[in-house]
Amino acid sequence: MSGNTALDEINEAKANMDHIYDQPDPRAYFRELRKLEYAIPGVAKPIFQKLISKLRHQRNDTVHVLDLGCSYGVNAALLKHDLSMSELYDHWGEEVLAGIASEEVVASDLRYFSNLDEHADITMTGLDQAGSAISFAEESGLLNEGLAINLETELLPDEAMKNLALVDLVTSTGCVGYLTEKSFERLLPALTQGRSPWIGNFVLRMFPFDAIEETLKDWGYVTEKLGGQTFVQRDFASDEEQEQVLEQLCKRGIDPAGKESEGQLLAEFYLSRPAIEVAVSSIERLLAA
Ligand SMILES: C[S@@+](CC[C@H](N)C(=O)[O-])C[C@H]1O[C@@H](n2cnc3c(N)ncnc32)[C@H](O)[C@@H]1O
Repeated sequence: MSGNTALDEINEAKANMDHIYDQPDPRAYFRELRKLEYAIPGVAKPIFQKLISKLRHQRNDTVHVLDLGCSYGVNAALLKHDLSMSELYDHWGEEVLAGIASEEVVASDLRYFSNLDEHADITMTGLDQAGSAISFAEESGLLNEGLAINLETELLPDEAMKNLALVDLVTSTGCVGYLTEKSFERLLPALTQGRSPWIGNFVLRMFPFDAIEETLKDWGYVTEKLGGQTFVQRDFASDEEQEQVLEQLCKRGIDPAGKESEGQLLAEFYLSRPAIEVAVSSIERLLAA
């Protein structure tokens, strides 16, 4: 994942889910994460919707979203089709999908999503190192474009540059920690070719965000953390995971009492925007309006 030893140690505190990230369809992902009540994409949705609505109003045009660590197109399903996490859990847990081949799931999902109402005024590009998950998201119609790439270890391909110039909003849920400042360093030259997009990351409290914030600052961004709010990511997978996470939080000087000590992993929301836009309206004002 990352060559950063401190981050590697924090990642080790968390249960390893790598085996469900790169399957040819999302059934295992949703089956396993349902057990842990994985919630962050649904919890993030109203905030992303508000940002999309602001951007649409400001730009009077289609809003182009880039979702980092997009997996099977989870945020795309929630934002483009207005689905909820519980609807996605039910959908991919349906009996008719059990036991059929992945190609049939893809074909059935293409029909399912194309029969749903779609917000035509957003496009979704997704980036993830998991090539099979990206293929699913593209073939089922959830993503307009998928980038199967690991920017921790690879450079951004030249052919991705042009479309990334159009991005208005970058989103991520459950992804920072796997992704570090290195990925942002490699994305920012492409993202800031035209109008610099807003960048909204939901980040587990145990992961530091300062290195990413510093990188973004070099490109003219100011980062604000939404004050006084935490967002449920999921239940702990075991007592051992909880113990290790509490230890990591304490090492970072974060008090887990009444928070992670209650049994859930919690995230915070960071929004990074060009300095001039932050000067006009704070994150709190932007999200309250
Ligand atoms: C916890 S999942 C979150 C997926 C999705 N955003 C959601 O909330 O349901 C983490 C995702 O990060 C992806 N990931 C891990 N390391 C990555 C990297 N270096 N570059 C891009 N994606 C990565 C994984 O493949 C996985 O899809």
